[in-house]
Amino acid sequence: MAQAKATFSSKIGLIAATVGSAVGLGNVWRFPAETQANGGAAFLFVYVLCLIILGVPVMLAEFSLGRGTKSDAVGAFMKLKPDTPWWITGGLAVLASYLILSFYMVVAGWTFEYLWQSITGNLYSPDSANVSMDASFHAKMENYICADISPLINLYVLIGINIAVLLCGVQKGIERLSNILMPLLFLLLLVFCGVSLSLDGASEGLKFFLSPDFSKITPGVIVNALGQSFFSLSLGMGILITYSSYFPKDTRLTKTALTVSLLDLLVAVMMGVIIFPAVSSFGLDGAELRGTTLVFVTLPEIFSQMHFTRLWSILFFLLLFVAALTSTISIAEVSVAWLQDRFKKSRTAATLIVMMPLFLLSSLCSLSFGSLNGFKILGMTIFDFLDNLATNIFLPVVSILVCIFMGWVVNKKYLRDEITNHGSLRERCYPVIHFVIKFIAPPLILLILLSYFIKF
Ligand code: PFF
Repeated sequence: MAQAKATFSSKIGLIAATVGSAVGLGNVWRFPAETQANGGAAFLFVYVLCLIILGVPVMLAEFSLGRGTKSDAVGAFMKLKPDTPWWITGGLAVLASYLILSFYMVVAGWTFEYLWQSITGNLYSPDSANVSMDASFHAKMENYICADISPLINLYVLIGINIAVLLCGVQKGIERLSNILMPLLFLLLLVFCGVSLSLDGASEGLKFFLSPDFSKITPGVIVNALGQSFFSLSLGMGILITYSSYFPKDTRLTKTALTVSLLDLLVAVMMGVIIFPAVSSFGLDGAELRGTTLVFVTLPEIFSQMHFTRLWSILFFLLLFVAALTSTISIAEVSVAWLQDRFKKSRTAATLIVMMPLFLLSSLCSLSFGSLNGFKILGMTIFDFLDNLATNIFLPVVSILVCIFMGWVVNKKYLRDEITNHGSLRERCYPVIHFVIKFIAPPLILLILLSYFIKF
């Protein structure tokens, strides 16, 4: 049965949903860790440049593909260049997003566990009084993620919530949820910024984050900033092609891309303003910011030293949970839309076909911290293997192919028509956007790919 193409019903809803996709674990967890590892403010400076100069044009390439064709990630390429192998780019995007979903959902499940443990107070129960606070939160995290059953239960809760939202559809599910959760997320971030800035000794951390030492900019820092900006903007996964296929015809793509990117940046900066002063104020060192430890060890440790420990803990893990949830939904939507559009499946059938195998794949990722830890692919656990394959290889490959497609393969007029809404808008920046997509972005994104194999 042919179904009318869904659209977002309001401008606010469209922005909320797209920002909901962009703002995720990448902002709250990966960004502070990358900033710490890459020299603080110098990294932030390069990151802002990457986001604006490269991220926005590539986002516009994806928006044009989706909005112009009103198709899923594969169909967009098929419509513009039928009977050519270009559809494989869309296929890679669907595959990559599915692989990302399988391990991202596991971490989203952890955030739910920590929210729950904050509500019950168990996270702060003194079960190991004879060890240091840090060791205690470390042990708690390891005990939890390396166990088999409880991470699986949380994972299934998350998959269940995703199914419920996806079944409700684009307007009643994704858009409505984002309209509620995104303002909540910004409100929570504001509260935490206020708290962090009022801590004694906050200024030292703030200086590290905001006052750049340009001598710290190395090729490695630039490549990491590039990779982080693509991850954070949800580029190269078909997500923005899919979401923009729900944009109405009169949406101003340039304005939307700028708004989404700046709000995504704002969240990352607010996270920095929250984390770095808190870490310096509590005398923790930078090593505490690495990877998983940041949100699941360092922050609980900080909360435990503050008044109203449980309140802060509940609010923070609620924030993290909201950020992760809206992103998982957007990643899953890529495959759901693909099945709906390509195979003419109903929304219900498409959602179930996408989510059912995920129970198995995500379970394997979750168990790779527990009883499957010894099982290695190319020397990596299943979780790490899928993470590396999707984010370090597929993401840059798809992004490069999208740029080549929009810059070199599709008629130039197509991109101009999309960006100017068929001539009704005077977007003076169009030639710059086209130039970046055609000449600048492909070689620079190639660096992200190469950086995985060669250390810069
Ligand atoms: N942009 C989101 C984040 O930063 O967490 C979600 C996401 C989408 C992450 C796509 C990674 C990715 F490849």
